[in-house]
Amino acid sequence: MDLGLSGKVAIVTGGSRGIGRGIVEGLLAEGCKVVTCARNAEKLQQAVDELRASGDIVGVPLDITSRDAGETLLAKAKAEFGAVDVLVNNAGGNKRGAFVELSDEDWQTVLELNFNSHVRVARAVAGEMQKRKSGSIIFIASIFGREAGGKGLAIYNSTKSAMISMAKIMAMELAADNVRVNSVAPGSIRFPGGSWDRRCIEDPEGMQAFIDRELPLGRFGTVEEVANVVAFLASERASLVTGTCINVDGCQSRSLI
Ligand SMILES: NC(=O)c1ccc[n+]([C@@H]2O[C@H](COP(=O)([O-])OP(=O)(O)OC[C@H]3O[C@@H](n4cnc5c(N)ncnc54)[C@H](OP(=O)(O)O)[C@@H]3O)[C@@H](O)[C@H]2O)c1
Repeated sequence: MDLGLSGKVAIVTGGSRGIGRGIVEGLLAEGCKVVTCARNAEKLQQAVDELRASGDIVGVPLDITSRDAGETLLAKAKAEFGAVDVLVNNAGGNKRGAFVELSDEDWQTVLELNFNSHVRVARAVAGEMQKRKSGSIIFIASIFGREAGGKGLAIYNSTKSAMISMAKIMAMELAADNVRVNSVAPGSIRFPGGSWDRRCIEDPEGMQAFIDRELPLGRFGTVEEVANVVAFLASERASLVTGTCINVDGCQSRSLI
């Protein structure tokens, strides 16, 4: 299927490794021009250098929790490529801990990274898309924004649920301007150097038990499998898909809704 993404301009936050890098690679393979960002300038540049052979890509070293991150990324996309058609809000993190032990600072740090930063970046880019009467915004949430992830995940669960909720309301408000907004909820995604990879190396038996218990396909997901769904949502092939959240989890989640 030709997704018709050739020549489109995408901003992907957190594209230097992991799922974000997979999404960047997927969009480049479809012919998109990509602006991406990460905090570590050296690692970002290394990723950009490796990916340049696949298409037009620019890296902007910045912290997305900074107030002007959205405006900076938008300005870069317009200066380098003339416009923005796709925004993928991917960067995120976690702070595990028992609810009674988590501090205000813990909550504030992850709220800024997983939610507030995405509000600001999406607001900056959505306004531009509204003017152009075209665009696709995708939030990388988690299955743990749709159902309980378990003890110790109060902050992560809350921020991902908030993200999915906000995306739905954004979709309602932006539909009249032909801007689609969706979220993607990955299950456990393994890639070299990622958190699941580390846990598999540290505790192979425990992780095999986890796979047997929690992953019906008998394996972790890959970044390519997430990127494929993101590319579809980014494209006009998904023209009737807005205001939804799509699991990419191999039936890991148990929720019926
Ligand atoms: N891996 C999974 O199994 C899984 C499952 C469900 C959902 N998710 C979600 O998918 C997204 C990506 O996960 P991942 O596992 O690929 O994460 P990751 O390996 O930690 O990569 C995160 C990326 O975001 C960048 N980043 C982090 N904080 C940033 C900040 N403040 N400003 C700018 N860039 C920042 C990182 O680069 P720097 O560190 O250099 O900034 C890196 O490029 C997250 O939202 C995560 O919650 C992951």
